[in-house]
Amino acid sequence: MAMRPFVGGNWKMNLDANGATALASAVALGAPACQGAVDIVVFPPFPFLERVARALGDSGVELGAQDLSSEANGARTGEVSAEMLRDVGASWVIVGHSERRQHLGETDARVADKLLMALESGLRCVLCVGESLEQRKANREAEVVGSQVAAALAAIPAAQVHSVVVAYEPIWAIGTGVVATPQDAEAAHGAIREALTSRYDSALARETRVVYGGSLAPGNAKALFARPGVDGGLVGGASLKAPDFLAICSAAAHRLIAH
Ligand code: PGA
Repeated sequence: MAMRPFVGGNWKMNLDANGATALASAVALGAPACQGAVDIVVFPPFPFLERVARALGDSGVELGAQDLSSEANGARTGEVSAEMLRDVGASWVIVGHSERRQHLGETDARVADKLLMALESGLRCVLCVGESLEQRKANREAEVVGSQVAAALAAIPAAQVHSVVVAYEPIWAIGTGVVATPQDAEAAHGAIREALTSRYDSALARETRVVYGGSLAPGNAKALFARPGVDGGLVGGASLKAPDFLAICSAAAHRLIAH
């Protein structure tokens, strides 16, 4: 059975306050065309969360943050807690994005702590995994994503996994314009589901959404979403333009899965 697809817009460290409001309003306006058939979530920078929540209103588009602290509260200058995110209307959070793993020293252990904190606080999570170009050249992609999934979910009980979407984001495809082939994505999603099967069981692995991220665009989304086991996408650059983001949401909503 095909699952309800998920499309997230990761705005990263872009836009200003007015731009964030305008983008959220445009997404909210266009989203009803594909709703009912796809979960749409936008992930603005922290300072814009509240205004984006207001702009989204009751459009059905959900709000997420790009990161959270692994601590509940206290002396962690600059950090933002899960409770604070919920307080301003976020219901989702991205955990373990490769840009944080690469540039901000986020380890598998830290990712696991953040995931646990987010889920225990009632946030739903997009857990990002993906291999580097070197690892892919060495044919290690399945091993890398498998071990990232296993590490992140080691402390997460089966009952909480329905609140997790796993995003397969090969590092070499992020922001590069080089997109994974639908076959490569399907294979990596298979490896992620094998890791979920080892950690839990095959039923839970089938029921967990695994989405693709990395240079997704209106022109390539349809072919990727047509592969079995590719349940939507996490969109960076193209999520900053409402028409492009909405076209990707529409591709997910109307996907025809090849067999
Ligand atoms: P991109 O980013 O679509 O700009 O490649 C995707 C992501 O990092 O989530």
